[in-house]
Amino acid sequence: DVAPVRWTIGNWKQNLFRGTAELLATEIVDGLPPELLEGPVRTKIGVAPTLVALDALAPWSRPAGPLYLFGQNCAAQEEGAFTGEVGPGQLADVGAHGAIIGHSERRTHFREDDALIARKVQCALQAGLRVVLCVGEGLEIRERGDHENFVISQLSASLNQVDPELFQDRLVLAYEPVWAIGTGKTASARDAGAMHRRIRAWLTEHYGAMGADRSILYGGSVKPGNAAGLMAAGDVDGFLVGGASLEAEAFLQIVRLVA
Ligand code: G3P
Repeated sequence: DVAPVRWTIGNWKQNLFRGTAELLATEIVDGLPPELLEGPVRTKIGVAPTLVALDALAPWSRPAGPLYLFGQNCAAQEEGAFTGEVGPGQLADVGAHGAIIGHSERRTHFREDDALIARKVQCALQAGLRVVLCVGEGLEIRERGDHENFVISQLSASLNQVDPELFQDRLVLAYEPVWAIGTGKTASARDAGAMHRRIRAWLTEHYGAMGADRSILYGGSVKPGNAAGLMAAGDVDGFLVGGASLEAEAFLQIVRLVA
């Protein structure tokens, strides 16, 4: 049995510019404990800056540096007449190792549905990118107790017809309850653990070994103060961090707790 890879990924959202992104990346890399850089890597560290800062972070990115770079979105097609879109090959060309796909902010504000997200996941994986696929329920669904069914149906629809042969080393899941994003509310370790176990069970049932060892990250108001408790919940393989990832020290503390 191979334990899932641990990840700490900062989603910088539509914050920072090239210069401030470079500065934050420098602070993060300078503050990384050397054993995380030299020893057997115990947590992979990623950042998802604004698209136009991706290439500026090349000096700190793998393999030269320690950071994996992610786009915050990716087109559902490689290239062509799709004004405003950026495809997986184009992301890779400016240094991205992967893309976050299906974030609730994209699902809500830009009306991305599961079918589109499934096409994006397949397109990105096929192009060789890593994918952080996000799922998560809204408050109403949580309150009526339907959250597990909802998340599993979202997961199943977002992976519809995606080739599981492409999962290996490349597909990461992120459970982000919408009511916990940017609100200061966090799922309790117990609730997060229960959902992560459910997701793991579903992946194993559907994809066997190809699904069982996928990393499942938690996201939603993760901070240094709640990260240890969430890691202890079981089946939490790290975090997708929004607000706290914009402060180097807070992000580094979370990295240390994940490792
Ligand atoms: O993708 C990470 C995110 O949505 C969580 O944001 O600010 O609640 O950590 P935040």
